[in-house]
Amino acid sequence: MTKHGDHPAPSDALVLFGVTGDLAHKMIFPALYAMVKNGELTAPVIGVARPAMTAAEIRGRATDSIEQSGVAVDRRVLKRLLSSLHYVSGDYNDPATFTALKQALGKAKFPAHYLAIPPSLFATVIEGLSAAGLAENARVIVEKPFGRDLSSARRLNAVARAAFPEDSIFRIDHYLGKEEIMNILYFRFANSFLEPIWNRNYVSSVQITLAERFGVADRGGFYETAGCLRDVIQNHVFQIVALLAMEPPVDRTYGAVHTEKAKVFEAMRPLTSRDLVRGQYAGYRKTLDVARDSDVETYCAMRLFIDSWRWEGVPWYLRSGKCLPETAAEVIVELKPPPAALFGDSNPTGGLSNYLRFRLSPNAGIALAARVKRPGKEFVGEQCELYLVDELLGAEPPYERLLSDAMAGDGALFTREDAVEAAWVVVDKVLKRHARVIPYKRGSWGPTEANALLAHHGEWHNPMIDRNGKSK
Ligand code: BG6
Repeated sequence: MTKHGDHPAPSDALVLFGVTGDLAHKMIFPALYAMVKNGELTAPVIGVARPAMTAAEIRGRATDSIEQSGVAVDRRVLKRLLSSLHYVSGDYNDPATFTALKQALGKAKFPAHYLAIPPSLFATVIEGLSAAGLAENARVIVEKPFGRDLSSARRLNAVARAAFPEDSIFRIDHYLGKEEIMNILYFRFANSFLEPIWNRNYVSSVQITLAERFGVADRGGFYETAGCLRDVIQNHVFQIVALLAMEPPVDRTYGAVHTEKAKVFEAMRPLTSRDLVRGQYAGYRKTLDVARDSDVETYCAMRLFIDSWRWEGVPWYLRSGKCLPETAAEVIVELKPPPAALFGDSNPTGGLSNYLRFRLSPNAGIALAARVKRPGKEFVGEQCELYLVDELLGAEPPYERLLSDAMAGDGALFTREDAVEAAWVVVDKVLKRHARVIPYKRGSWGPTEANALLAHHGEWHNPMIDRNGKSK
């Protein structure tokens, strides 16, 4: 691979900054184990972090993480991973850390540097890598959040681009590595029946809910710098919107898909405080590292418009929150009712008309709801769901897929500079100017004020889960 990234050589070493951190323990070691098992990782892994620990201690942490992940551990695979795991300890501000890393990299020519570290350190590490000559022929994988507003995202992009070509920068949004999310792209463009109705003429509104039963737990310190809008909406939920709203790409190359997604973000109307309801669950302020008078939102609902030929005038209602009644993510694309109410019940007001439902978690599903006549003399029917998919089996956990792709130089499931910045433009104003948070009870669906966002478009559709975790 040249400095310009035009030779897709697979990475021959994985450098894991933040190897002693939470993300590494919860997600990355199990992913590395799976990659070794599947033969996707044969390169050495060099962990970097500040604590003065020995390589043996790091291997102990890795073992612990993999055992806790619940997989049936194959000792030979684990041994292979551990024997390729090395450790460099040092301060990211100290050039000596990068000199030691260079030494540890030995003969590796095409390293991939994975920054699983707090966002405030991204620029420091990228500059350290560059100054030590470690950005040459290398890739960089950056965890979210990529910036905390438009100007910081631009600054970070500038730092990253000064050290790496764009196609060597892999910005993670782990939602893009999820099977159910990838299926949105496939489902939309592998079928012909959808296209004629997939526009402002037939779609009356789109709702996306990303609900979580749990609170911020021990992430209070991080969450205080983020809030729901930055944490999951500007990235995960917007990525779902982009896949649902984009035009067909000219081909399947990732450049073409990225270009269409970026156009959706560019067409989104920048939000104003009137489009937004921010909530905070009761007790959030008592969380460790959370300010007693915190105005950080743990719930956010919004009305968004995409000013494009296809979507002009169609409201997109997005919401997410913590301490809600379920952990589930769902999209409802609601279709307009028939033009005339030939039957008394075929133009239901207030309820749902025909819709397409994408269940994204905890199970995966696609359902099409249509009205069907009930047997009998009367022309009365009911809404029935035609269930197209239940659970997608064999889905790789996202980190395994994302890291293997990045090491192979495939950027399809990562975000591009222009798209990231365009998405920040949409939320930038409301990050700074908004009404104060409205308190809501834990286990409720958030502040009732969010209902007013929907105006004449009915109600929020709450994803329902049965006891087996399936949609109801
Ligand atoms: C992360 C957020 O990016 O996504 C978390 O920081 C959130 O706050 C999580 O809980 C949701 O991801 P998933 O894959 O569990 O739906």
